[in-house]
Amino acid sequence: MDSDALLSSRAHSTVSSVIRDLLRLVDRPDMLSLAGGLPAPEHLPVARIAEALARVRGTRVGGTRALQYGPTEGMVELREVVAGRLRCPINEIVICTGSQQGLDLVARSLLDPGDLVVVADPSYLGSLQSFRAAGAELHAVASDEDGLDVEALGVVLESGLRPKLVSVVTDFANPTGATLSAARRRRLLELAVGFGFVVVEDNPYGELRWAGEAEPSLGALAAGTPAADLVVTLGSASKVLAPGLRLGWLRGPAWLTDAVVRLKQSSDLHTSSLDQLLAADVLGDTAFMEAHLGLIRADYCTRAGVLVDALSDFGGGRIEAALPDGGMFVWARLTDGSSSSDLFERALEEGVAFVPGAAFSLDIPSDGRRSDRLRMCFTTLRPDELKVAVSRLVSILPR
Ligand SMILES: Cc1ncc(COP(=O)(O)O)c(C=O)c1O
Repeated sequence: MDSDALLSSRAHSTVSSVIRDLLRLVDRPDMLSLAGGLPAPEHLPVARIAEALARVRGTRVGGTRALQYGPTEGMVELREVVAGRLRCPINEIVICTGSQQGLDLVARSLLDPGDLVVVADPSYLGSLQSFRAAGAELHAVASDEDGLDVEALGVVLESGLRPKLVSVVTDFANPTGATLSAARRRRLLELAVGFGFVVVEDNPYGELRWAGEAEPSLGALAAGTPAADLVVTLGSASKVLAPGLRLGWLRGPAWLTDAVVRLKQSSDLHTSSLDQLLAADVLGDTAFMEAHLGLIRADYCTRAGVLVDALSDFGGGRIEAALPDGGMFVWARLTDGSSSSDLFERALEEGVAFVPGAAFSLDIPSDGRRSDRLRMCFTTLRPDELKVAVSRLVSILPR
């Protein structure tokens, strides 16, 4: 059998996520991994979800609805809670199977083979996978500590680049931890209206802010303006509740959500009814969510501080990192300009893992600056483990 001939060109060209492959490598009991992007297991609200399950099961209609087919756009209970959190009308909300499915459905709704998508360099690899699977050509625009360089985007647009879609992680981006500044948000919307492209605002980390003021979302800034027709916002229960529920949401204009719902039908009919009702119960419990998010933020703030301090205390100036105001990642830099990819295997031998910066610029023409970077996720190691992880890493840094 010639399986190569049987597989579609899409299946051939879709490569597995480097990070998922890498996580398999680091799955060793002695490994201290800063490589994942997982929430702290101790903050998964097991007891509160069990309570939600008992409540959903106990109601006369809830119990059977939880096990029945439901509407493709999502169950009204969860759409209402999400619309309340985003302060938008419920008809703008579609529930997805993780925000990853939201990315995939937006890509499939908008993109034909050869269409152009602008992404930040470096970028979240899951979004690149979805855009590529839809046949898009990717164009990378640089980003810095204020997120996507929107002025640089303006320059390429002026010189004739015509993307159909521009994708940004607005808050505490994966991998850089950067948040798009207020001025850049406004300019991005102006460019979207001027050049007629859709902006995907991917924001799974925004609620993990422990310092500083949150910027208004692109969706909120666009509301009531011509940009409202061109902005789609993606959110997720993964980082605030539990990634295993696979629950995300999408807020967008009707012309786009209608297409998304049609394509979702062919993909999975709808997201799990049971999971939606559980999430609606927990996310809708504002007192619980405030306390829960308060604990997560305080804990992540401590862990991020321990990691950044350890890098500065043990690193002897060879590695540096800024303390983020939220999110799950530190984007550290090797100050002598050496390559973090070259360090990677030695680091695994020493029992510490991270994601080399180059992994996030994969296959996209790039200036190569990211090779001196390391993405470090501080959420799953305890403070004492973070210190040991850093001392292991520092022991192999060039002197
Ligand atoms: C920037 C970004 N977007 C989307 C996702 C997908 O999240 P989920 O499908 O769990 O909602 C992730 C996951 O880590 C992410 O980092």
